[in-house]
Amino acid sequence: MEKTFLMVKPDGVQRNLIGEIVSRFEKKGFQLAGAKLMTISRELAENHYGEHKERPFFGELVNFITSGPVFAMVWQGDNVIATARNMMGKTNPSEAAAGTVRGDFAVNVSNNIIHGSDSPESAVREIGLFFKEDELVNYEKAI
Ligand code: CMP
Repeated sequence: MEKTFLMVKPDGVQRNLIGEIVSRFEKKGFQLAGAKLMTISRELAENHYGEHKERPFFGELVNFITSGPVFAMVWQGDNVIATARNMMGKTNPSEAAAGTVRGDFAVNVSNNIIHGSDSPESAVREIGLFFKEDELVNYEKAI
């Protein structure tokens, strides 16, 4: 079963959008395999966003993502990585279509509400950074 890492960023948590966002992915038909409300350390933020290290906005990105609690999640289902990216909308909310999370709730590229893994490799890496194996449920065993 394909898995992806999604995270409601500090702006989404502060704006009480956790429930709205979780609801969208539940209604779509994906399963929540793990979730936690947490404040990210600078070390974890720099690791998570390591691919952007040389970008001019890296410092701002790390400051923002560590500025308040985030809601980290693992979702699973068929083609969940690409489908979740479509449901999130384009990175820059001004280009994100209506009906997507960013299209509906954000205006600014820094404060764009949600993060989602962009590839199978990123998903494995990001899930491993944020979750231990025993923090993820196995629905097959629970039935
Ligand atoms: P995210 O999907 O979390 O991955 C990297 C983040 O960098 C991205 O969402 C944006 O929030 C942020 N980002 C991308 N481009 C810019 C930019 N030009 N200025 C500030 N932040 C940016």
